[in-house]
Amino acid sequence: MQTKRLKGKVALVTGASSGIGEATALALAAEGARVAIAARRVQRLNDLADRIRQGGGEALPITADVRDEAQATTMVERVLQDFERLDILLNIAGVGVAAPFQNTTTAEYRQMVEVNFLGLLYPIHAALPAMKAQGAGHIVIVSSGTGRYIHPSTVYSGTKHAASAMAESLRREIGKDWIRVTSIEPGAVRTEFTSHMRDEVRASVEQRLGDMVQLESEDVAAAILYAVTQPPHVNVNILTLYPTQQA
Ligand SMILES: NC(=O)c1ccc[n+]([C@@H]2O[C@H](COP(=O)([O-])OP(=O)(O)OC[C@H]3O[C@@H](n4cnc5c(N)ncnc54)[C@H](OP(=O)(O)O)[C@@H]3O)[C@@H](O)[C@H]2O)c1
Repeated sequence: MQTKRLKGKVALVTGASSGIGEATALALAAEGARVAIAARRVQRLNDLADRIRQGGGEALPITADVRDEAQATTMVERVLQDFERLDILLNIAGVGVAAPFQNTTTAEYRQMVEVNFLGLLYPIHAALPAMKAQGAGHIVIVSSGTGRYIHPSTVYSGTKHAASAMAESLRREIGKDWIRVTSIEPGAVRTEFTSHMRDEVRASVEQRLGDMVQLESEDVAAAILYAVTQPPHVNVNILTLYPTQQA
């Protein structure tokens, strides 16, 4: 029987209660990683933990709002306490209002900046000392195609450009400590992401996407799995994946 590729590794997945985060947690657990799964919706996390355990894996649900520095820090501390290490931090939590600047409210700007950018920085800040002490680690950031190319989602795109830029800069800073950094940049993925947008914005996104076949969360999870199962001397910097029909 083939050895599981992430046996002995500990992963923390933010945004694990749905979509890409949920699929990634399942994929990592199937490869033998012990997974801490974090988000705000506790019932979703408990259900996912049950599924992982039923599959023979180990899961630790943690309720945390990544916008809150104290909660993000406690989330990382909890992983270190229960699993005694942290090998892979996957920053997947995110929100988006895919609209032009003039059709985005200031409350929406704030929410996107807080979740997509500050909510990325706080867990990394909390995790780095442990990774440095271990002499190894991997930080995966789920940015977006809108973090590299221009799509009609101005503020969301701005937060994701910040995430992608930060990933590359951080990679150059901490690679010497054997800590890898990967930016995952997908195009449209079929998740509940758009359901959190205002009705009018959601309708315009749905109209734009039309009947295009979108990526599935599992497609993105497979890309993440590729990045985190490379040998330690290989850093996958950026993975961009789009639906074949997406312009
Ligand atoms: N779907 C796409 O087309 C697409 C394309 C490119 C990139 N992405 C990126 O992929 C990531 C995952 O999105 P998805 O498509 O899987 O959407 P999703 O199903 O809506 O998942 C978003 C996740 O983020 C979590 N989250 C939101 N606000 C949070 C907060 N304040 N604190 C903690 N967790 C929070 C949600 O959990 P709770 O609500 O339970 O907290 C949920 O688990 C996001 O970063 C998104 O920007 C998505």
